[in-house]
Amino acid sequence: MKHLEVCTENLKQTHELGEKIGRAAVRNMVFLLDGDLGAGKTTLTQGIARGLGVRRNVTSPTFTILKVYQGRMPLYHIDAYRLEGTVQDLGFDELMEDEGLTVIEWSQYVSYLIPEEYMKITITLLEEDSRKFVFEACGAQYEKLLEDIA
Ligand SMILES: Nc1ncnc2c1ncn2[C@@H]1O[C@H](COP(=O)(O)OP(=O)(O)OP(=O)(O)O)[C@@H](O)[C@H]1O
Ligand SMILES: [Mg+2]
Repeated sequence: MKHLEVCTENLKQTHELGEKIGRAAVRNMVFLLDGDLGAGKTTLTQGIARGLGVRRNVTSPTFTILKVYQGRMPLYHIDAYRLEGTVQDLGFDELMEDEGLTVIEWSQYVSYLIPEEYMKITITLLEEDSRKFVFEACGAQYEKLLEDIA
């Protein structure tokens, strides 16, 4: 399965969607989360963290760019919003080759970091509490993950 569309009606459903992703994820995966301010990128990441067994609360890393959490594998949460228009070697590519799971908010600002295979998740705000998640799997293990969560 290469594409999947899921709508959520509230924050809890987005957490649950993320949790399913976190449970189904295998080592070394990269998730690109795109969508406007307040779309739900961090909210989905909170669910992913929960599915990975992370106990700490995931917060928006806007002012730190990278936060690392420990679950059944490390979660690298990158928010590239403040990197717009820059090309910097912050060592993220090495992190992403590591055994963890990487989530990148605003991945379009760090296109140079995007690996050959990844899951892209585009989030749009439908109305107040409704959000649409469009998944595009690029690579066999991501296609399988979509089957697992569909
Ligand atoms: N169905 C929903 N899914 C996710 N968030 C929702 C939903 N309905 C309402 N919300 C609200 O939308 C906001 C989403 O914020 P969040 O920080 O996840 O967005 P973001 O995409 O990470 O934004 P930013 O670009 O600023 O990092 C939260 O305030 C959340 O409570
Ligand atoms: Mg965010």
